[in-house]
Amino acid sequence: MSESKSPAPKSPAIDLTGKVAIVTGAASGIGRATSKLYAAAGAAVVCCDKAETVAETEAEIRAAGGRAVSMTMDAGAEADVAAAVALATDSFGGLDIFYANAGISNFGGPTDFFDHTPEQWSEILRINLIGPFLAIKHAVPAMEARGGGAIVATASVAGLRANAGPTPYSASKAGVINLVQTAAQELIGKNIRINAICPGLIETGMTRYAYDYARAKGREDKIGQLNPMKRGGEPEEIAGMALFLVSDLASYVNGQAMAVDGGLSSTHPFVPGGRPTAAMRKASAGDLDTMKAARPAE
Ligand SMILES: NC(=O)c1ccc[n+]([C@@H]2O[C@H](COP(=O)([O-])OP(=O)(O)OC[C@H]3O[C@@H](n4cnc5c(N)ncnc54)[C@H](O)[C@@H]3O)[C@@H](O)[C@H]2O)c1
Repeated sequence: MSESKSPAPKSPAIDLTGKVAIVTGAASGIGRATSKLYAAAGAAVVCCDKAETVAETEAEIRAAGGRAVSMTMDAGAEADVAAAVALATDSFGGLDIFYANAGISNFGGPTDFFDHTPEQWSEILRINLIGPFLAIKHAVPAMEARGGGAIVATASVAGLRANAGPTPYSASKAGVINLVQTAAQELIGKNIRINAICPGLIETGMTRYAYDYARAKGREDKIGQLNPMKRGGEPEEIAGMALFLVSDLASYVNGQAMAVDGGLSSTHPFVPGGRPTAAMRKASAGDLDTMKAARPAE
């Protein structure tokens, strides 16, 4: 191969210097990891959460030399979301990035479909789905004033397929996916991209009970066994996608739901018993032969 005269292309580092980001759900899990990653990439971050421990995320970012402020707020309350945007503008001069990530799964309510109440449905939809709508509504005017921006919302694999969460949670996350698709149309001409991330099983505050339960039983090795990577994910692995989606590397990615799930949503439903054993294959050999014979010639 002939030697290139131009220098070898370097892997472009993602640089958010000069950008201002809001992250909701920033006190814990995915939101905390993403706030820290955005700040490490150079962004000034407004860390928002209903939990007062969000101040710890701000403190960690500052201790690492980054720029951050924090506020306790309700991501499903319009006045609070508007206040977060105002805080970004007042503190750092504008807004370029909104990661609408705060969410709840079931807030200790029933998991059985027929026991859910309309009040529980309303609360889950208010935070998980109306929250991202409010983020879009209030972020867009501030982003337009800067000439553009990027919005990301956390959906879930539960919004792609059934059986990964309680029904109101799954429906709320399916709604988030549709919200980013329809919002991408609403944002035509504004130079604002919007996408969703669909995490699989990630170890955070939301899933701590499952991890604690598995560890207490000595069954940690069973976690994440439904995906082809055979492990659960870390919050930082979602933060990586959240960073990519707001960066210029994703400049043509819009209106998408990006699964970050170790391949969970790429597979067919789980077959009880796992991979077929030799005995199972032998027992079903007749059927397989029939299927092969029926397959059209390639
Ligand atoms: N952990 C997973 O396996 C997983 C999988 C798919 C999707 N998700 C989604 O990821 C997002 C982040 O959750 P996580 O897994 O990091 O869990 P987490 O519980 O660690 O973090 C969620 C944060 O959101 C905050 N929050 C909840 N309601 C709020 C409100 N009304 N206003 C402001 N903040 C609020 C909580 O205080 C918490 O700090 C959620 O939207 C969740 O549905 C998580």
